[in-house]
Amino acid sequence: MLRRHIAPWVKRNQNAIPLRQALDLAQAGYELVRRARPNDHRPAVAGGWPVRLVPFPPPQPFTRHERRELRRAASSQSTSFFDGASVRRFEAELAARWGSRHALALSSGTASLHTAMMACGIGPGDEVIVPALTYVATALAVMQAGAKPVFVDADPSNWNIDPHLLEAAITPRTKAVIPVHIGGVACGMTAILAIAAKHDLWVVEDAAHAHGSTWNGQSLGTIGDIGCFSFGSPKSITTGEGGALLTDDPELYRRARMAMNLGECTPEGQPSLDLIFFEPETRLDYVMVGWNYRMSTAQAAIGLGQLARFDAIRRARSTSGAYLREHLARIPGLKPQEVTPGCDPCYYTFPFEVQGDASLSRGELLAGLAAERVDYRLWSNKALPSYAVFGGAGDFPVADRLCRNGIGFRVDPRIGRPELEAMVFATRRLLGAGRPGAAGASR
Ligand SMILES: Cc1ncc(COP(=O)(O)O)c(C=O)c1O
Repeated sequence: MLRRHIAPWVKRNQNAIPLRQALDLAQAGYELVRRARPNDHRPAVAGGWPVRLVPFPPPQPFTRHERRELRRAASSQSTSFFDGASVRRFEAELAARWGSRHALALSSGTASLHTAMMACGIGPGDEVIVPALTYVATALAVMQAGAKPVFVDADPSNWNIDPHLLEAAITPRTKAVIPVHIGGVACGMTAILAIAAKHDLWVVEDAAHAHGSTWNGQSLGTIGDIGCFSFGSPKSITTGEGGALLTDDPELYRRARMAMNLGECTPEGQPSLDLIFFEPETRLDYVMVGWNYRMSTAQAAIGLGQLARFDAIRRARSTSGAYLREHLARIPGLKPQEVTPGCDPCYYTFPFEVQGDASLSRGELLAGLAAERVDYRLWSNKALPSYAVFGGAGDFPVADRLCRNGIGFRVDPRIGRPELEAMVFATRRLLGAGRPGAAGASR
């Protein structure tokens, strides 16, 4: 009965406020009883009581902010992109908040990276340097533009592209580098900017994880020539699916705005999307191969709602990340991603590595966390270059190790103190207990 009917119903309705409050209350009561049980140090996989009775709340609920903006968009009586005011407002608010001259709303983060490549004029015969540890989209966007991604291994401290290895990967064909700020932690931008300037490379930041993170007081995504953001569903700002591109350069903006709208412009080269309306005699021109990467009115409305509460989102993510850093760093065998000097991170997820001397492998720890009903996120299980689409070759030992041993804990605003304590307690209990039957597995 519970499994067949009640559990699926609870899962479907977890976001409803009264039910959520009841579930939180049930968890608090369970917690009191669990803690009162003397000397039960057994993890759930070994027959102990799971840390959580109630699963973590689902991330990314609609709040009154998103509903208000969606209602506002609906009452404009136009679903059109062209006269849909939400898209233009969203772009204006992104530019203002991030301190960038131009913002372009797009249909996804991948679309923003591909559009950035097109804006920079990157195409067949060109090479673009990308990290070996990133989401597949970073390197695929380079290939979508007809260019070749050249991979560079990760820095073991902050998991980002290792600037010490960058120069060796540059050839006469190299046109750009895409630093990816993994987890919301800044890449070594001082070295990357210096090398890019020396070799005349575009710097296209992949800031898909880095909304709200800063480096030396400047927002990530506004440091290079172009910054690319994803608003996919797990991201720190979400529009369900979506993305954006930021730049201060008017020419990069002009080309990007044409490229994401099928290359359409006036005979003077003004992107048609910048026209408020078409004069009857306006003739349109097509001067480049473009794509339809337009963001919809409804997506932009959700984005406006997210921006309205982004200060709170940012605070929650930073505070939860700081809590996890403090407590996970004390557990033997775990090593959190280090923060680059000068960076104030707004974490996407909180990344840490299960090291070789831990009492459990990552797989064993993940199985244990699942039994405790503690949520986690994973990256790729392999370094990107080892996938067939990229040729499957190369030696990227650091990226490979981090992919095999990395775990990300949730830090979205639905994660409160009870969930954070559950993550730390469950991890400590599992690693403290070690492998069943192993020496030292006494606790
Ligand atoms: C580092 C990175 N770059 C790019 C993307 C692509 O974004 P999207 O899924 O919106 O296309 C993602 C998505 O997760 C990502 O993690």
